[in-house]
Amino acid sequence: MSTEKVEIFDTTLRDGEQVPGCKLNTAQKLKIAARLDELGVDVIEAGFPVSSPGDFKSVSEISKLIKNAAVCGLTRAVKNDIEVAAEALKYAKYPRIHTGIGTSDSHIKYKFNSTREEIIERAIMAVSYAKTFVEDVEFYAEDAGRTDNEFLAKVCTAAVKAGATVLNIPDTTGYCLPEEYGQKIKYLKENVTGIHKVRLSCHCHNDLGMATANAIAGVANGARQIECTINGIGERAGNTALEEVVMILRQHPSLNLTTNINSKLLYGTSKMVSQEMGMLVQPNKAIVGANAFAHSSGIHQDGMIKNKATYEIIDPADVGVTESAIILTARSGRAALAYRAKKMGYELTKLQLDTVYIEFLNFADHRKEVVDNDIHIIMDLSRKRN
Ligand code: KIV
Ligand code: ZN
Repeated sequence: MSTEKVEIFDTTLRDGEQVPGCKLNTAQKLKIAARLDELGVDVIEAGFPVSSPGDFKSVSEISKLIKNAAVCGLTRAVKNDIEVAAEALKYAKYPRIHTGIGTSDSHIKYKFNSTREEIIERAIMAVSYAKTFVEDVEFYAEDAGRTDNEFLAKVCTAAVKAGATVLNIPDTTGYCLPEEYGQKIKYLKENVTGIHKVRLSCHCHNDLGMATANAIAGVANGARQIECTINGIGERAGNTALEEVVMILRQHPSLNLTTNINSKLLYGTSKMVSQEMGMLVQPNKAIVGANAFAHSSGIHQDGMIKNKATYEIIDPADVGVTESAIILTARSGRAALAYRAKKMGYELTKLQLDTVYIEFLNFADHRKEVVDNDIHIIMDLSRKRN
Protein backbone atom coordinates (compact mmCIF):
# COMPACT_ATOMS: atom_id res chain seq x y z
CA MET A 1 0.00 0.00 0.00
CA SER A 2 1.53 3.36 -0.97
CA THR A 3 1.83 6.18 1.53
CA GLU A 4 -0.60 9.06 1.06
CA LYS A 5 -0.06 12.67 2.04
CA VAL A 6 -2.19 14.42 4.65
CA GLU A 7 -2.16 18.19 4.18
CA ILE A 8 -1.55 20.29 7.27
CA PHE A 9 -3.78 23.36 7.47
CA ASP A 10 -2.48 25.56 10.23
CA THR A 11 -5.01 27.88 11.88
CA THR A 12 -2.81 29.23 14.70
CA LEU A 13 -3.26 32.76 13.35
CA ARG A 14 -7.07 32.49 13.04
CA ASP A 15 -8.75 29.92 15.33
CA GLY A 16 -5.65 29.87 17.56
CA GLU A 17 -5.59 33.62 17.94
CA GLN A 18 -9.17 33.54 19.25
CA VAL A 19 -7.72 32.69 22.69
CA PRO A 20 -8.67 35.47 25.10
CA GLY A 21 -5.72 37.76 25.86
CA CYS A 22 -3.47 36.35 23.12
CA LYS A 23 -3.96 38.97 20.41
CA LEU A 24 -1.03 39.27 18.02
CA ASN A 25 -0.02 42.34 16.02
CA THR A 26 0.83 42.21 12.31
CA ALA A 27 4.60 41.98 12.87
CA GLN A 28 4.14 39.03 15.22
CA LYS A 29 1.78 37.33 12.76
CA LEU A 30 4.29 37.76 9.95
CA LYS A 31 7.02 36.24 12.09
CA ILE A 32 4.87 33.20 12.94
CA ALA A 33 3.64 32.82 9.34
CA ALA A 34 7.23 32.75 8.04
CA ARG A 35 8.09 30.07 10.58
CA LEU A 36 5.01 28.00 9.62
CA ASP A 37 6.06 28.18 5.97
CA GLU A 38 9.54 26.97 6.93
CA LEU A 39 7.98 24.20 9.05
CA GLY A 40 6.29 22.90 5.89
CA VAL A 41 2.56 23.46 6.50
CA ASP A 42 0.44 23.27 3.34
CA VAL A 43 -2.04 26.00 4.26
CA ILE A 44 -1.76 29.00 6.58
CA GLU A 45 -5.12 30.34 7.68
CA ALA A 46 -3.97 33.90 8.20
CA GLY A 47 -7.13 35.44 9.65
CA PHE A 48 -10.72 36.56 9.19
CA PRO A 49 -10.22 39.66 7.00
CA VAL A 50 -13.64 41.25 7.46
CA SER A 51 -13.41 41.07 11.25
CA SER A 52 -11.16 44.13 11.68
CA PRO A 53 -8.81 46.42 9.71
CA GLY A 54 -5.91 44.90 11.65
CA ASP A 55 -6.84 41.38 10.59
CA PHE A 56 -7.29 42.52 6.98
CA LYS A 57 -3.80 44.04 7.03
CA SER A 58 -2.26 40.90 8.54
CA VAL A 59 -3.84 38.63 5.90
CA SER A 60 -2.74 41.00 3.15
CA GLU A 61 0.87 41.24 4.43
CA ILE A 62 1.10 37.48 4.96
CA SER A 63 -0.18 36.97 1.41
CA LYS A 64 2.72 39.06 0.09
CA LEU A 65 5.29 37.24 2.23
CA ILE A 66 4.49 33.54 1.89
CA LYS A 67 6.01 31.66 -1.01
CA ASN A 68 5.27 27.97 -0.37
CA ALA A 69 2.03 27.45 1.57
CA ALA A 70 -1.42 28.45 0.41
CA VAL A 71 -2.72 31.49 2.33
CA CYS A 72 -6.31 31.29 3.47
CA GLY A 73 -8.85 33.80 4.76
CA LEU A 74 -12.04 32.91 6.65
CA THR A 75 -15.47 34.29 5.76
CA ARG A 76 -19.09 33.74 6.69
CA ALA A 77 -21.53 32.91 3.90
CA VAL A 78 -21.88 36.63 3.31
CA LYS A 79 -20.99 38.40 0.04
CA ASN A 80 -19.19 41.31 1.70
CA ASP A 81 -17.02 38.94 3.80
CA ILE A 82 -16.03 37.10 0.62
CA GLU A 83 -15.20 40.31 -1.27
CA VAL A 84 -13.05 41.56 1.62
CA ALA A 85 -11.25 38.21 1.93
CA ALA A 86 -10.57 38.16 -1.83
CA GLU A 87 -9.10 41.66 -1.61
CA ALA A 88 -6.87 40.69 1.36
CA LEU A 89 -5.66 37.59 -0.47
CA LYS A 90 -5.02 39.24 -3.82
CA TYR A 91 -1.20 39.11 -3.46
CA ALA A 92 -1.09 35.47 -2.37
CA LYS A 93 0.73 33.02 -4.62
CA TYR A 94 -1.82 30.36 -3.67
CA PRO A 95 -4.96 32.06 -2.28
CA ARG A 96 -7.75 30.09 -0.64
CA ILE A 97 -11.13 31.40 0.57
CA HIS A 98 -12.60 29.44 3.49
CA THR A 99 -16.33 30.05 3.57
CA GLY A 100 -19.27 28.28 5.11
CA ILE A 101 -22.25 28.18 7.42
CA GLY A 102 -23.64 26.31 10.44
CA THR A 103 -25.46 23.12 9.49
CA SER A 104 -26.61 21.57 12.79
CA ASP A 105 -30.26 21.95 13.80
CA SER A 106 -29.21 24.11 16.72
CA HIS A 107 -27.24 26.51 14.50
CA ILE A 108 -30.01 26.61 11.88
CA LYS A 109 -32.68 27.36 14.49
CA TYR A 110 -30.92 29.58 17.03
CA LYS A 111 -28.17 31.29 15.00
CA PHE A 112 -29.93 31.74 11.68
CA ASN A 113 -33.63 31.30 12.46
CA SER A 114 -33.64 29.53 9.12
CA THR A 115 -34.44 26.21 7.44
CA ARG A 116 -32.31 23.41 5.99
CA GLU A 117 -33.33 24.42 2.46
CA GLU A 118 -32.19 28.02 3.00
CA ILE A 119 -28.89 26.85 4.50
CA ILE A 120 -28.17 24.83 1.35
CA GLU A 121 -28.98 27.89 -0.78
CA ARG A 122 -26.61 30.06 1.26
CA ALA A 123 -23.86 27.43 1.04
CA ILE A 124 -24.21 27.35 -2.77
CA MET A 125 -24.21 31.14 -2.97
CA ALA A 126 -21.07 31.44 -0.78
CA VAL A 127 -19.03 28.83 -2.63
CA SER A 128 -20.00 30.00 -6.11
CA TYR A 129 -19.40 33.65 -5.20
CA ALA A 130 -15.97 32.85 -3.70
CA LYS A 131 -15.20 30.89 -6.84
CA THR A 132 -15.53 34.08 -8.90
CA PHE A 133 -12.44 35.39 -7.06
CA VAL A 134 -10.23 32.35 -6.48
CA GLU A 135 -9.94 28.80 -7.77
CA ASP A 136 -9.33 27.22 -4.35
CA VAL A 137 -12.47 27.42 -2.18
CA GLU A 138 -12.83 25.50 1.06
CA PHE A 139 -16.36 25.04 2.41
CA TYR A 140 -16.97 24.53 6.16
CA ALA A 141 -20.15 23.06 7.61
CA GLU A 142 -19.95 24.59 11.07
CA ASP A 143 -20.99 22.21 13.87
CA ALA A 144 -20.82 19.28 11.44
CA GLY A 145 -20.02 17.15 14.49
CA ARG A 146 -23.64 17.55 15.65
CA THR A 147 -25.21 17.65 12.18
CA ASP A 148 -27.08 14.57 11.05
CA ASN A 149 -25.06 12.73 8.43
CA GLU A 150 -27.75 12.60 5.75
CA PHE A 151 -28.28 16.36 5.76
CA LEU A 152 -24.53 16.98 6.01
CA ALA A 153 -23.97 14.88 2.88
CA LYS A 154 -26.63 16.97 1.07
CA VAL A 155 -24.96 20.28 2.00
CA CYS A 156 -21.55 18.90 1.05
CA THR A 157 -22.84 17.63 -2.31
CA ALA A 158 -24.23 21.10 -3.03
CA ALA A 159 -20.92 22.73 -2.07
CA VAL A 160 -18.95 20.38 -4.33
CA LYS A 161 -21.32 21.08 -7.20
CA ALA A 162 -20.84 24.82 -6.63
CA GLY A 163 -17.08 24.37 -6.98
CA ALA A 164 -15.62 23.70 -3.52
CA THR A 165 -12.15 22.13 -3.61
CA VAL A 166 -12.03 21.16 0.07
CA LEU A 167 -14.85 20.16 2.46
CA ASN A 168 -14.16 21.04 6.09
CA ILE A 169 -16.10 18.94 8.63
CA PRO A 170 -15.68 20.79 11.94
CA ASP A 171 -16.48 19.22 15.28
CA THR A 172 -16.97 22.80 16.44
CA THR A 173 -17.99 21.94 20.00
CA GLY A 174 -15.53 19.07 20.50
CA TYR A 175 -18.42 16.70 21.19
CA CYS A 176 -17.85 13.69 18.90
CA LEU A 177 -16.30 10.43 20.01
CA PRO A 178 -13.38 9.36 17.77
CA GLU A 179 -15.35 6.36 16.45
CA GLU A 180 -18.32 8.61 15.65
CA TYR A 181 -16.20 11.27 13.94
CA GLY A 182 -14.39 8.63 11.88
CA GLN A 183 -17.73 7.14 10.81
CA LYS A 184 -18.95 10.59 9.78
CA ILE A 185 -15.97 11.01 7.45
CA LYS A 186 -16.52 7.50 6.07
CA TYR A 187 -20.21 8.25 5.50
CA LEU A 188 -19.36 11.43 3.59
CA LYS A 189 -16.77 9.59 1.46
CA GLU A 190 -19.49 7.15 0.50
CA ASN A 191 -22.44 9.52 0.13
CA VAL A 192 -21.29 12.90 -1.19
CA THR A 193 -21.65 13.10 -4.96
CA GLY A 194 -18.39 14.20 -6.57
CA ILE A 195 -16.33 13.47 -3.43
CA HIS A 196 -13.45 12.09 -5.54
CA LYS A 197 -12.85 15.66 -6.84
CA VAL A 198 -12.31 17.18 -3.37
CA ARG A 199 -10.33 16.79 -0.17
CA LEU A 200 -12.09 16.14 3.14
CA SER A 201 -10.72 18.08 6.08
CA CYS A 202 -10.86 17.44 9.86
CA HIS A 203 -11.28 20.47 12.12
CA CYS A 204 -11.65 19.27 15.70
CA HIS A 205 -11.98 21.13 18.98
CA ASN A 206 -10.75 19.87 22.31
CA ASP A 207 -13.64 20.45 24.72
CA LEU A 208 -13.55 16.82 25.87
CA GLY A 209 -9.84 16.30 25.20
CA MET A 210 -10.50 14.37 21.97
CA ALA A 211 -9.39 16.82 19.26
CA THR A 212 -6.28 14.89 18.31
CA ALA A 213 -7.94 11.46 18.52
CA ASN A 214 -10.82 12.71 16.37
CA ALA A 215 -8.53 14.15 13.69
CA ILE A 216 -6.64 10.86 13.52
CA ALA A 217 -9.92 8.94 13.28
CA GLY A 218 -10.85 11.30 10.43
CA VAL A 219 -7.72 10.65 8.38
CA ALA A 220 -7.88 6.92 9.12
CA ASN A 221 -11.30 7.03 7.43
CA GLY A 222 -10.32 8.97 4.35
CA ALA A 223 -9.91 12.67 5.21
CA ARG A 224 -6.69 14.10 3.75
CA GLN A 225 -6.35 17.43 5.52
CA ILE A 226 -6.05 18.23 9.24
CA GLU A 227 -6.75 21.71 10.60
CA CYS A 228 -4.69 22.35 13.68
CA THR A 229 -2.74 24.87 15.72
CA ILE A 230 0.69 25.01 17.31
CA ASN A 231 0.44 23.89 20.96
CA GLY A 232 -3.26 23.13 20.34
CA ILE A 233 -4.22 26.72 21.17
CA GLY A 234 -7.68 27.98 20.24
CA GLU A 235 -11.19 28.81 21.40
CA ARG A 236 -12.12 27.37 24.81
CA ALA A 237 -10.11 24.14 25.26
CA GLY A 238 -8.37 24.66 21.92
CA ASN A 239 -7.93 22.85 18.61
CA THR A 240 -6.12 19.73 17.45
CA ALA A 241 -2.40 20.23 18.20
CA LEU A 242 -0.27 20.26 15.03
CA GLU A 243 2.76 18.69 16.73
CA GLU A 244 0.63 15.80 18.01
CA VAL A 245 -0.97 14.76 14.72
CA VAL A 246 2.30 15.12 12.83
CA MET A 247 4.16 12.86 15.26
CA ILE A 248 1.31 10.33 15.48
CA LEU A 249 1.37 9.89 11.70
CA ARG A 250 5.15 9.65 11.77
CA GLN A 251 5.36 7.18 14.65
CA HIS A 252 2.65 4.91 13.21
CA PRO A 253 3.81 3.93 9.70
CA SER A 254 1.02 1.31 9.56
CA LEU A 255 -1.40 4.19 8.89
CA ASN A 256 0.42 4.79 5.57
CA LEU A 257 0.00 8.54 5.95
CA THR A 258 2.63 11.23 5.88
CA THR A 259 2.93 15.02 6.09
CA ASN A 260 5.29 17.59 4.70
CA ILE A 261 6.32 18.85 8.14
CA ASN A 262 9.99 19.16 9.14
CA SER A 263 9.50 17.72 12.61
CA LYS A 264 12.88 18.99 13.83
CA LEU A 265 11.39 22.49 13.85
CA LEU A 266 8.42 21.57 16.08
CA TYR A 267 9.91 22.41 19.46
CA GLY A 268 11.32 25.76 18.32
CA THR A 269 8.01 26.68 16.68
CA SER A 270 6.12 25.80 19.85
CA LYS A 271 8.43 28.05 21.88
CA MET A 272 8.08 30.90 19.41
CA VAL A 273 4.26 30.77 19.42
CA SER A 274 4.17 30.48 23.21
CA GLN A 275 6.43 33.54 23.59
CA GLU A 276 4.68 35.69 21.00
CA MET A 277 1.24 34.89 22.44
CA GLY A 278 2.34 35.10 26.06
CA MET A 279 0.74 31.72 26.62
CA LEU A 280 2.69 29.08 28.54
CA VAL A 281 2.79 25.49 27.34
CA GLN A 282 1.67 23.07 30.07
CA PRO A 283 4.74 21.06 31.23
CA ASN A 284 3.08 17.71 30.50
CA LYS A 285 1.97 18.73 26.98
CA ALA A 286 2.65 15.90 24.51
CA ILE A 287 5.68 16.40 22.23
CA VAL A 288 6.59 19.99 23.21
CA GLY A 289 5.97 20.24 26.99
CA ALA A 290 8.98 20.73 29.28
CA ASN A 291 8.43 17.24 30.71
CA ALA A 292 7.72 15.44 27.42
CA PHE A 293 11.21 13.90 27.47
CA ALA A 294 11.97 14.13 31.20
CA HIS A 295 12.16 11.03 33.37
CA SER A 296 11.95 11.30 37.13
CA SER A 297 10.98 7.99 38.72
CA GLY A 298 13.71 5.54 39.70
CA ILE A 299 12.29 2.60 37.74
CA HIS A 300 11.99 4.63 34.52
CA GLN A 301 15.41 6.23 34.95
CA ASP A 302 17.05 2.84 35.43
CA GLY A 303 15.42 1.61 32.19
CA MET A 304 16.36 4.78 30.28
CA ILE A 305 20.00 4.55 31.34
CA LYS A 306 20.11 0.93 30.12
CA ASN A 307 18.29 1.63 26.85
CA LYS A 308 16.18 4.66 25.85
CA ALA A 309 13.72 2.46 23.97
CA THR A 310 12.37 1.26 27.34
CA TYR A 311 10.50 4.49 28.02
CA GLU A 312 10.80 6.71 24.93
CA ILE A 313 8.80 6.18 21.75
CA ILE A 314 10.16 9.30 20.05
CA ASP A 315 13.76 10.35 19.64
CA PRO A 316 13.75 13.89 21.16
CA ALA A 317 16.09 15.06 18.39
CA ASP A 318 13.30 14.31 15.88
CA VAL A 319 11.22 17.14 17.32
CA GLY A 320 14.14 19.49 17.96
CA VAL A 321 14.73 18.72 21.66
CA THR A 322 18.47 18.29 22.34
CA GLU A 323 18.22 15.27 24.65
CA SER A 324 15.99 13.53 27.15
CA ALA A 325 16.39 14.61 30.75
CA ILE A 326 16.91 12.48 33.81
CA ILE A 327 15.44 14.58 36.62
CA LEU A 328 16.77 13.81 40.08
CA THR A 329 14.11 13.72 42.79
CA ALA A 330 13.46 11.70 45.95
CA ARG A 331 11.91 9.09 43.60
CA SER A 332 15.22 8.58 41.77
CA GLY A 333 17.33 5.48 42.34
CA ARG A 334 21.05 4.80 42.59
CA ALA A 335 21.40 4.31 38.82
CA ALA A 336 20.20 7.84 38.06
CA LEU A 337 22.37 9.36 40.79
CA ALA A 338 25.47 7.50 39.55
CA TYR A 339 24.66 8.50 35.96
CA ARG A 340 24.39 12.20 36.79
CA ALA A 341 27.40 12.12 39.14
CA LYS A 342 29.50 10.51 36.39
CA LYS A 343 28.43 13.17 33.90
CA MET A 344 29.66 15.74 36.44
CA GLY A 345 33.02 13.99 36.84
CA TYR A 346 32.39 11.88 39.98
CA GLU A 347 33.32 8.21 39.48
CA LEU A 348 31.78 6.33 42.44
CA THR A 349 32.50 2.79 43.60
CA LYS A 350 29.49 0.70 44.62
CA LEU A 351 30.25 1.34 48.29
CA GLN A 352 30.65 5.10 47.79
CA LEU A 353 27.41 5.19 45.85
CA ASP A 354 25.54 3.54 48.75
CA THR A 355 26.68 6.20 51.20
CA VAL A 356 26.19 9.14 48.83
CA TYR A 357 22.71 7.81 48.02
CA ILE A 358 21.67 8.03 51.71
CA GLU A 359 22.84 11.65 51.77
CA PHE A 360 21.07 12.27 48.46
CA LEU A 361 17.72 10.96 49.75
CA ASN A 362 17.87 13.14 52.88
CA PHE A 363 18.54 16.12 50.66
CA ALA A 364 16.01 15.26 47.93
CA ASP A 365 13.16 14.83 50.42
CA HIS A 366 13.27 18.61 50.96
CA ARG A 367 13.61 19.60 47.30
CA LYS A 368 11.33 19.44 44.24
CA GLU A 369 14.39 18.63 42.13
CA VAL A 370 18.07 18.02 42.84
CA VAL A 371 20.19 20.11 40.46
CA ASP A 372 23.90 19.92 39.61
CA ASN A 373 24.92 22.40 42.27
CA ASP A 374 23.11 20.29 44.88
CA ILE A 375 25.11 17.24 43.77
CA HIS A 376 28.36 19.06 44.62
CA ILE A 377 26.95 19.85 48.08
CA ILE A 378 25.80 16.24 48.58
CA MET A 379 29.24 14.89 47.59
CA ASP A 380 30.86 17.30 50.00
CA LEU A 381 28.54 16.39 52.89
CA SER A 382 29.00 12.69 52.23
CA ARG A 383 32.79 13.04 52.16
CA LYS A 384 32.79 14.98 55.46
CA ARG A 385 30.52 12.49 57.23
CA ASN A 386 32.33 9.31 56.14
O1 KIV B 1 -14.76 25.40 14.71
C1 KIV B 1 -15.27 25.77 13.64
O2 KIV B 1 -16.36 25.34 13.25
C2 KIV B 1 -14.55 26.77 12.87
C3 KIV B 1 -15.10 27.09 11.51
C4 KIV B 1 -15.36 28.54 11.40
C5 KIV B 1 -14.20 26.58 10.46
O3 KIV B 1 -13.54 27.27 13.29
ZN1 ZN C 1 -12.73 26.04 14.96
